Amino acid sequence: MIRANKHFKKLQSSYLFYNIAMRVNAFQKANPTAKIIRLGIGDVTQPLPPVCIEAFHKAADEQSAPETFRGYGPSEGYAFLREVVAGIDFRSRGANIDPDEIFISDGSKCDCGNFQELFSTDSIAAIPDPVYPVYLDTNVMAGRTGVYKEGRYEGVVYLPCTAENRFIPSLPDQTVDLIYLCSPNNPTGSVMDRENLNRWVSFARESQALILFDAAYADFIREDDLPRSIFEIEGAQEVAVEFRSFSKMAGFTGTRCAYTVVPKACMAYDENGDAISVRDLWMRRQTTKFNGVSYPVQRAAEAAFSERGRDQVRGLTDYYLENAKIVRMAMAELGFETAGGVNSPYIWINTGQDDWSFFDRLLQKASVVTTPGSGFGNNGVGFIRISAFNSRENVITAMERISQIA
Ligand code: MLT
Repeated sequence: MIRANKHFKKLQSSYLFYNIAMRVNAFQKANPTAKIIRLGIGDVTQPLPPVCIEAFHKAADEQSAPETFRGYGPSEGYAFLREVVAGIDFRSRGANIDPDEIFISDGSKCDCGNFQELFSTDSIAAIPDPVYPVYLDTNVMAGRTGVYKEGRYEGVVYLPCTAENRFIPSLPDQTVDLIYLCSPNNPTGSVMDRENLNRWVSFARESQALILFDAAYADFIREDDLPRSIFEIEGAQEVAVEFRSFSKMAGFTGTRCAYTVVPKACMAYDENGDAISVRDLWMRRQTTKFNGVSYPVQRAAEAAFSERGRDQVRGLTDYYLENAKIVRMAMAELGFETAGGVNSPYIWINTGQDDWSFFDRLLQKASVVTTPGSGFGNNGVGFIRISAFNSRENVITAMERISQIA
């Protein structure tokens, strides 16, 4: 008899954004003329930068001639892309990352979900609350947690992120093995400064733990003194892995391209305490389970790093940051406490009431979709997240509609 993975039974009924999509579809069916504005899931709306489109077309044409055709590429990605990533995203900021420490993939969600596979199931995971649900759910699926009780999985060390700590996780008062950090943060929009990151890197070094650092929104940081990468922090290369994405910065949510940085110095340990290269483990995993990202997509991603590409990417992220400012100011004017929305496309709003009821009210009365904070964890109860990923016109209309009913 084929038996199901018993750990899936511990999961909450459905993935947060799937659950929201079902409610929105039901609302649209019942109200076919409603013009819904989606500020829920962080999905981009603006087209790819023109340089990426040009590179995409050119690479597609190359696939049409035998002399330039390419079959399987390296599963860790083509050197042309890994080299520009290392130079522009890291070395130019003083982080000494080599191209062969970079693994190109089809998404950060997959990478940050898959990475935990490399570690023993009795590793203790420290996970912020609220948090992007993928970190927690993939650890549950792997059997790294106990059952779910009162909004908490047994065996997980939760790191509360509240207004009191400015939504920046504090160090736990026990040892942990696998630490998830996200900056700029999804969902709170908070950004960790050098001092915060230094503290976490020192903690990880002392306890031989590993930090999984999700920096998918790094390109939204505008303040120069804020780190964009954990590898700008001394000593991080031995204890951290970083996830980056082209999704939000260059509009690749439907095109799919991301990368993960696994430094050669980064180690995990066997049962005798002997060090094992995390990069070798990830290489082994990827070469077994992944065949790389398509050649045209990698050429399009490479183009985002050209001079014109960087200007166009900056234009895109500026556009969404201006949307974020409009949302932040409109919600503050209505009297709500807000966080994020600066150096981040997400605005975290304290509704002062039940967040699912508030979500439903915005949907029913304003046809605006947001994300209820409790879907991100216990500390999200009473909050909603508004995403700045939409057209300027829709963001302005959504705020006008909300101000009429809030
Ligand atoms: C979000 O809305 O949190 C993100 O779009 C989800 C994702 O990137 O997978």
